[in-house]
Amino acid sequence: MRGEAPKERVAFDERTGIWSVYGYEETLRIMADTDTFSSGISRVVPELAEFTEGGLTTLDPPRHTKLRKIVSKAFTPRVVSDMESAIQRISEELLDQVEGGRMDLVADFAYPLPVIVIADLLGIPAEERETFRGWVDAMLSGTMDMSLNERSEEYDKEFSRAIENIQNLNSFIAEHAKSRRTAPRDDLLTRLVEAEVDGERLTDQEVTNFAALFLLAGHVTTSALLGNMILCLDQYPQQRKEVRDDRSLVPSAIEEALRMYSPFASISRVTQTEADVAGTKIPADQLVALVLGAANRDERQFADPHVYDIRRDPNPHLAFGRGIHFCIGAPLARLEGRIAMNLLLDRFPDLRCDPDDPPAYLTIPNLTGAQKLPLLLTAEA
Ligand code: HEM
Repeated sequence: MRGEAPKERVAFDERTGIWSVYGYEETLRIMADTDTFSSGISRVVPELAEFTEGGLTTLDPPRHTKLRKIVSKAFTPRVVSDMESAIQRISEELLDQVEGGRMDLVADFAYPLPVIVIADLLGIPAEERETFRGWVDAMLSGTMDMSLNERSEEYDKEFSRAIENIQNLNSFIAEHAKSRRTAPRDDLLTRLVEAEVDGERLTDQEVTNFAALFLLAGHVTTSALLGNMILCLDQYPQQRKEVRDDRSLVPSAIEEALRMYSPFASISRVTQTEADVAGTKIPADQLVALVLGAANRDERQFADPHVYDIRRDPNPHLAFGRGIHFCIGAPLARLEGRIAMNLLLDRFPDLRCDPDDPPAYLTIPNLTGAQKLPLLLTAEA
């Protein structure tokens, strides 16, 4: 879809009624132009409105600017770096349970790690983890193939199931947020409740939606990253050996995995007015998918884009977005990736994918990651 002519990098899908943009330059330009391209997708998907208040991802300036400032006061780099020893401990505990020379990286490690970390960060007690993990599980089991035209019965059913899950998750978090106003603790929920900019604090609803967004935005994406990292190293055994022997390469190996297999394959914007993208006119009020997975393989930006190269420098991938909505959880995802890659390589220097049990992938179209990733952990006999 990244054709030769710029015009070819923009396409309209008659079936779904959604525009897609595939080029790096075009994607970058759209992310920078928040006047023309709004993040308020509830304008065209109104069912989402109730759940996006306070959610950051779907807001535009000036509200986004204010809210992001408040949230950034609570979720500081210090809060993330203070999590390092907890993440290390949780990762070790998960790997301690692995036996018999094989594991499913997703079920045994990549899936539980981020959910436990975010729950810990928010201050949700360990005994309640399984409750919301159930809702997150249910949400990830569907296909959620978004279409503005063909609203099949199946889609509507899936949509209302997803909404019910979000409602359950929200009321669970709302209970916790409310209790922090009267009984503050040393956790992110308390910091969110107390954070103040120009005399303004978040409402209960905003704190709740924000915390739920954290769970949703930070869980599956990080799980996907952890699996994708291992898939890359498996596909490039020489580079796996190099990272194993020189750990200073771990951060760039993670960045390159984010570029090669971008967990968020696409993100959405809505045109506020008619827009011109690479010579194609997109009318107002249209849903536009920015296909990060394609932009990150754009040959105009990256030499040998389909090759995994742990020494790629610079590597200005768009896996965390760009501009005002740049992923607020990126430092946390990178920290989890670093701890996980180091620990997996320490414990299982010979780890590789099981050739007799291939990986299965997530079924949600805009996510790129494994749902099942069977690994063999010991050296070949
Ligand atoms: C925003 C990707 C991990 C929370 C974003 C955006 C992307 C992204 C592409 C921009 C969305 C847009 O412009 O519309 C990822 C990836 C992750 C990851 C690939 C893991 C590898 C996390 C984590 C958290 C998180 C761990 C929270 C703990 C958020 C939030 C936003 C966001 C709150 C909205 C920021 C804003 O709109 O100002 N993420 N994310 N993400 N991410 Fe992440």
